[in-house]
Formats: sequence, structure tokens, C-alpha cells
Amino acid sequence: MEKLIGRNLNISVFISGRGSNLLSLIKYSKNKNSKIKINLIISNNKFSKGLEFAKKYKIKHFIIDYSKEKQAEHKIYGYLKKNKIDLICLAGFMKILSPGFIKKFKNPILNIHPSLLPKYKGLNTHIRAIENKDKFSGATVHVVTPKLDSGKIILQKKVRILKSDTEKTLAKKILKIEHKLYPAAIEKILKKSSL
Ligand code: GRF
Repeated sequence: MEKLIGRNLNISVFISGRGSNLLSLIKYSKNKNSKIKINLIISNNKFSKGLEFAKKYKIKHFIIDYSKEKQAEHKIYGYLKKNKIDLICLAGFMKILSPGFIKKFKNPILNIHPSLLPKYKGLNTHIRAIENKDKFSGATVHVVTPKLDSGKIILQKKVRILKSDTEKTLAKKILKIEHKLYPAAIEKILKKSSL
């Protein structure tokens, strides 16, 4: 990660659905002093709503047929190299990248996850936090490794779970903090020499 400090970064965002984190990253990249550029958007889903943001902001985007994973990753790798991508941000990307791909890409891959990792890896995080009567949940930006939702934590933010919270209200609260957390995590990577 050290080689990213203070640099201008070319970023590729991988999505599968709504794309609200993608939008927050695009907006952050448009700030006057921003050192990041979103150059490439990858989606495994042609119906992903987030692709509308790619079109609106005229960002290069590709829909990847994931029926054959190996071929899909080979194609993605080609796009990443061609566009000189320094950092991948997974943002609601519902495919698991293979260990071979992660190793081959070499530059960091980040993910945003809607829980206070290491709690609640995987899916259905909000309902699990509510059912366990946790007082807090939150969101985490972490480095992607071959082990699901287990890489180094870059940044985390908590929200309180109220007695009145449902899966829906908690998801909404957490999504709101996610939109600040992902840009903040990238800022941290750009500034700090050791993470
Ligand atoms: C977010 O909750 C993120 O934490 C999880 O998937 C969701 C994606 O939402 N990995 P969006 O597509 O960015 O709106």
C-alpha cells in the first residue's frame, strides 16, 4: 500500500447493483484537490442501477458476463491493465474474486462491508446484529484477501442500534455512513505511510 502514498490514483469501482457507494466515490473524485480519478467501472450485472452513474459521468464501463469466472476475470484484468488502474474499490460487488486474480493484480483491492468486522462476515449483516441484540453496528473498509471479509481494516465507523431499528432502518443508517467512510479510507491510504 505504501507505493500509493501521495500519488494520483486511477481507481476502478466494481459494482453489481444500486451503486450508491460508487456515486459517493465519483463525487469525492470531483473535489477540487482530489487525487483520485474513477477511470473504470466494472459490473457483472447489466441491470445494475449504478451503471447509470457511469453513463451520467461519462466513465468507461464494462458489463462482464460472469458465467465463466476464469474468462470473466481474464477480461477484467485486461481492462485494469489497459487503464493503468492503481486501486480497485469493490462497492456492492456480489462476486468473489479468485485468489489467483488478487495475487496477479498486485495493487490493493478494497471492499466496503456493512458491519463492524470481524463481526458478521458475509451476507445479512443487519438482521444478524439486531437478532444478537448488539448495541452498535457500522461499516468497515478493508483490504481484500482470498479469505472473505478478513483483510486488514483501513477504517471503521459505528452507529448505535436503537430498540426501534429494523433491518431496513439500520441498513439506511449504515449506508449513510458508508458514503463518507469509503472516501475517508482512500484519503487515509493516500496520507499514511503505515496502515
Ligand atoms: C453496501 O451496503 C456495501 O456495504 C455492501 O453492499 C452495499 C452496496 O450498496 N458491500 P451500493 O450498491 O453501493 O448502494
